[in-house]
Amino acid sequence: MLCLGIEGTAHTFGIGIADSKGKILANVSRVYVPEQGGIHPREAARFHAVNARRVLDEALNVAGIELEDIDLVAFSQGPGLGPVLRTAATAARALAARLGIPIVGVNHCIAHIEIGRLTGRIHDPVTLYVSGGNTQIIAFDAGRYRIFGETLDIPVGNCLDVFAREAGLSHPGGPNVERLARRGRRYIQLPYAVKGMDMSFSGLMTEAVRRYRDGAHLPDVCFSLQETAFAALVEVTERALAHTEKKEVMLTGGVASNMRLRTMLELMADEHRVKFFVPPSEFCRDCGANIAWTGLLAYLHGVRQRLDDTEVRQRWRTDEVDVPWRGK
Ligand code: ATP
Ligand code: FE2
Repeated sequence: MLCLGIEGTAHTFGIGIADSKGKILANVSRVYVPEQGGIHPREAARFHAVNARRVLDEALNVAGIELEDIDLVAFSQGPGLGPVLRTAATAARALAARLGIPIVGVNHCIAHIEIGRLTGRIHDPVTLYVSGGNTQIIAFDAGRYRIFGETLDIPVGNCLDVFAREAGLSHPGGPNVERLARRGRRYIQLPYAVKGMDMSFSGLMTEAVRRYRDGAHLPDVCFSLQETAFAALVEVTERALAHTEKKEVMLTGGVASNMRLRTMLELMADEHRVKFFVPPSEFCRDCGANIAWTGLLAYLHGVRQRLDDTEVRQRWRTDEVDVPWRGK
């Protein structure tokens, strides 16, 4: 069985094709880059609509198949930006209707976890999912993917991106902050905010910007920003690990590219003698393959959706999703 998955929650429009054995036949994406400032949802949606056809053709080409070979369409139903989600959903409905095949809506956050489980031969991790739009610590517990900790305000990737913008660095900011942080020497005290199992990054971002404007050495600010933000992520992940007694830790999302965060998390995992895994970077980022594979898992385990149930869910939380493929 072949599933075509459509990703569209934020910047990335992606189409992936997966088969029921877990082979990824294609994974093609186009990423919207705002001319200035942060993401403009309607502009991003327009970018996705304009590029949809080209991405589809390329994905079919890479997979070496015809559109008619597809048996199932999956799409990112949420969470994400309304206009962007609706564009992907519309494309998915059109394909399913034209081909007369079933459609399945997939939770974007869970798709990140499932592709990691597929590519990593890991089974039951505590996942730290960090990107421009999300910051969550997730683990499977009592039949659902539960959120053990999350940001109370902005996602950590957004914290890095906004700081970078204010400091005159180009978008996306994360890689630029990482590059400069390597030259940082002095730790500047910045607000560290872990509240219970949740984290806050907006005060940290504001203070880092203020320090930079007050004349602090930019590499030192970048270094201190990373150390402070990542320490909070590692602390909460460690507590989730201790609580759940899982034997694996996975790091995913766009911020997973950061080598300093990887090192910090790996050290923690080593101390607990648990396995540490980061999926290949093409699957850490938003992409269609994640959606295609998760859609297949759902369909093969009996999930069925009527067209009326394909309305997008902007704030769809991971713990609201049935995951019959993982049992109880
Ligand atoms: P989502 O919809 O999952 O929130 P997204 O639109 O933010 O995804 P991703 O590609 O998953 O897209 O993540 C992009 C984020 O990752 C940006 O915030 C970017 O700055 C950050 N990022 C990328 N590389 C690095 C890095 N080396 N260090 C830190 N952050 C990074
Ligand atoms: Fe994502």
